[in-house]
Amino acid sequence: MNSEVEIDAIMRVRDITHPLPLNLDRPLEIEVGCGKGRFLTARAAQNPDCDFLGIERMLERVRLFDGKCRRAGITNAKVLRLEALYTFHYLLPAHHARRVYVFFPDPWPKKKHHSHRLFGPLFRTALWKRLEIGGKMEFATDHAEYFQEVCEGFSTDTRFCRVPSMPRPPEVWTEFETMFREQGLPIYSAAWEALPGDDAPLEPLVIPPEAEPREGIVRRKDKAEDFAQFENNERNA
Ligand SMILES: C[S@@+](CC[C@H](N)C(=O)[O-])C[C@H]1O[C@@H](n2cnc3c(N)ncnc32)[C@H](O)[C@@H]1O
Repeated sequence: MNSEVEIDAIMRVRDITHPLPLNLDRPLEIEVGCGKGRFLTARAAQNPDCDFLGIERMLERVRLFDGKCRRAGITNAKVLRLEALYTFHYLLPAHHARRVYVFFPDPWPKKKHHSHRLFGPLFRTALWKRLEIGGKMEFATDHAEYFQEVCEGFSTDTRFCRVPSMPRPPEVWTEFETMFREQGLPIYSAAWEALPGDDAPLEPLVIPPEAEPREGIVRRKDKAEDFAQFENNERNA
């Protein structure tokens, strides 16, 4: 039997108001903005007793993630093409993920775009709700100012405490980490552990108007290549 055609790593969701089809008897690790899946597929191959979920909104990267799993015969990793904050807020089980990874999230370097950054009180609250108590959030970026902002946010949040980052040998570097390290750029890493806290149900998600996707982004979502170019331009702006 040919494993290339048997494996389908794309999590196909028919109703985005229902919890995701996850096996709650198995541990779970999640990567937000997993890109083409270099990190998560390597980790999945090394840890067959755990399930791995990548969340990625770009179609082309989702397909490349799927291709990696097919070629390597990886059956314990899935990729979901959906917006990460929505997924964390509504679709994931409470206190089940043992680790969440966010590596090289879009830094939105212009001040007027900072509200589009992933890390903020809304994401931290949904993140805490999805991590098991004692579960860890691993973060890395090449952007010093964004790193500082994220660290300050966690440092005043009593539901988290800072812990040492996990070692990341070259075989698990993400595509962006590999590229930045080859360019000799500094990489900033940090990790936090989820502590017991107030487990109130999450309020309905309300996105501040300034953080809503802009029209230009929505139009470009139809064409993955245009969107990739757009993101690239944003990074370099
Ligand atoms: C700068 S890239 C980094 C990719 C990968 N983590 C790496 O280090 O190679 C950021 C990725 O996050 C994805 N992304 C950004 N915001 C997202 C969101 N709100 N929901 C899902 N994916 C998102 C982008 O499509 C992109 O693939």
